[in-house]
Amino acid sequence: MTSQPVSVQITDGVAHVRMDNPPVNALGLALREALMDALAELEHNDDVMSVLLIGQPKAFSAGADITEFGTGTSSPTLPELVARVEDFPKPVVAAITGVALGGGLELAMAAHARVALTTAKLGLPEISLGLLPGAGGTGRLPRLVGPEKALELILGGKQIPAEAALQDGLVDAVLDGGSDAGSADSDGGSGFETEAARWTAEFAASGGPMRTQDRTDKIADAAAKPGTVVELAATALRKVKDPFAGKAAVEAVTAGVEKSFERGAVVERAKFQERLKSSESAAQRYLFAAERAARKPRNLDPAAARDVKQAGVVGAGTMGGGIAMALVSAGIPVTVVEAQQEALERGLGMIEKNLAVSVSHGNRTEKQAAQQRALITGTMDYADLSDADLVIEAAFEDLQVKKEIFAKLDQHVKPQAVLATNTSYLDIDEIASGTEHADRVLGMHFFSPANVMPLVEVVRGAQTSPEALATGFATARRIGKTPVVVGVCHGFVGNRMLGVRSRQAEQLLLEGALPSQVDDVLTEFGFRMGPFAMADMAGLDIGWRNRKAQGTTAPIGDALCVEGRFGQKTGAGYYSYEGRDRQNDPEVEEIIERVSAEHNMTRRGISDDEILERLLFPMINEGARILEEKIADRASDIDVIWVKGYNWPAYRGGPMWYADQVGAAVVAERLTHYAEATGDESLRPASALQRAADVGGSLTGASSS
Ligand code: 3HC
Repeated sequence: MTSQPVSVQITDGVAHVRMDNPPVNALGLALREALMDALAELEHNDDVMSVLLIGQPKAFSAGADITEFGTGTSSPTLPELVARVEDFPKPVVAAITGVALGGGLELAMAAHARVALTTAKLGLPEISLGLLPGAGGTGRLPRLVGPEKALELILGGKQIPAEAALQDGLVDAVLDGGSDAGSADSDGGSGFETEAARWTAEFAASGGPMRTQDRTDKIADAAAKPGTVVELAATALRKVKDPFAGKAAVEAVTAGVEKSFERGAVVERAKFQERLKSSESAAQRYLFAAERAARKPRNLDPAAARDVKQAGVVGAGTMGGGIAMALVSAGIPVTVVEAQQEALERGLGMIEKNLAVSVSHGNRTEKQAAQQRALITGTMDYADLSDADLVIEAAFEDLQVKKEIFAKLDQHVKPQAVLATNTSYLDIDEIASGTEHADRVLGMHFFSPANVMPLVEVVRGAQTSPEALATGFATARRIGKTPVVVGVCHGFVGNRMLGVRSRQAEQLLLEGALPSQVDDVLTEFGFRMGPFAMADMAGLDIGWRNRKAQGTTAPIGDALCVEGRFGQKTGAGYYSYEGRDRQNDPEVEEIIERVSAEHNMTRRGISDDEILERLLFPMINEGARILEEKIADRASDIDVIWVKGYNWPAYRGGPMWYADQVGAAVVAERLTHYAEATGDESLRPASALQRAADVGGSLTGASSS
């Protein structure tokens, strides 16, 4: 019996119910209906003793169909399907291959037992969409793994491997499925499926099904001591990416543990619907699509990418070391080149230390660290890069230095090797001009720490070949980064917009604000840090040096540097520091007031609203210019850059999305006002922004429903 997108095959009393809804078995209406139909038939089929619910090798199921969210969900809903599985009179076992995420895992948790292939990953990523699990997950997960682990999974949104799921009690067995694990046999099954079917038959023979919602052992303690769940959630809630969804999830888990499964389900449903309609969830669903759009840059042919079997990194400083770590973590051998033995040893030592820290944090096993360490070779000889397919230069940020390095690389690498520079600001075309093969040069702008931060701006130079661009892009993907293709300009997309914000922040200090007021406005908005706390962390001397090189000034930033206040590393910057604890410093206030007076400014009280507008609207304006100049393919690419590289709060979608929520007309009107009030003509609305304002249009072209 077959009915798309579900097929059923009955073997030895076990009904194999196979979901087949590519690409990721999202639980859309058609799949839910087909599963309900299949269950209805199997319930009364006397040949069937038990049910094995299985997906495809890539995915058991990635959860609810995100594309249905805007349109409202029709019956049978996911909670209805999940309840039907749990109440099914014959044992149902979920057999998990690939991923079981969100509603997919909730479906599996409603089954009477779960087995997983060794390579499977499980998780509840709803929080990343501004949601909480909405099909019983907040009630069933604590019953399977206990409230503490459940909160960690629900609030963190991370996927865990099958083995960890077994330890936690989320699955009942991990099966390796032999050599053909997860892939289809000639009869449509697999070694894993065969083993899972055997397991299911034994499970069915060994006793009646136990509903997950009826289990109480793992929640008994927390249920007996009200307040436990809230207490357990406190730390995770402080770090949660979407505090609104996080709080809603905790309320649902609390009700499910402290009152009853049914009561929890009611709270969960109400909170899920509330979050689904929220602007925060709309922003994150937009970002989900934006990230996927950024994976398909215009005018980039993925097929043109060259295979990178060996890589090189020039420079063993913080960036070079981080990039080398990112490359080896994806199994790509790296040769690291430094000019001096001492610098090389220091750099390799730092990599060694970072690997050890990552083992101690549980991010790598000792074995993985050893394997990755073995893939790194240090040298001072460029000739050792002769095998490299891709070399990433991460040397000192100085045009002349970089040009010399590229000229040297050009002589030593093989003709088809791709050369990338990790410059943050410099002109890629100028760097490429120092080589004989400018077509193989591109930018790969990583963010610090490069082994952790996901963003890479992949910069297309005027002469960059399709092969070079595709290779840089594919390599960034391969090492688990989020690459976004951008064009050449000072600071590319991210730093160019950051520069505009920094200028306004400095100006606000001159006009009457203090660092803590400005920073607090941005942390209140959702950033982890404001511009001054961030500058103190990065080191004020870096910006000072850059400004001097470009002949620009930032009166207050410069004045602090003159006093030797370089930020956290000197214990004093915009704030003073005891370790990392920052304090407002009266000395800074004096410096600010003095510099204001020197600039003939009459200081005034500035409202938080003005601070927010003055910081964010000029960035939006710059984003609009970036689009006009075609430096970014799409507005949503700019948003991905800001969320992934600069900690823009995901629940606010990114600067361009935010502009659409405020309204282009409002942004343009306020910018015009500030241009007139301050005399800063750069604040005049860019034409793309003004056009959107005039017609009531959108910058992102996305709807917020
Ligand atoms: N619904 C609809 N489409 C989905 C989807 C989903 N849940 N998950 C992935 N897709 C689509 C993607 O948009 C993409 O479409 P495209 O080819 O048109 O761009 C395609 O499937 C392939 O996805 P990826 O490009 O992301 O493929 P990867 O191999 O890189 O990753 C994945 C696969 C890990 C499954 C990743 O897609 C993912 O994390 N998906 C989202 C999972 C998720 O958030 N689930 C929770 C949904 S909310 C929910 O379940 C609510 C419930 O509690 C009631």
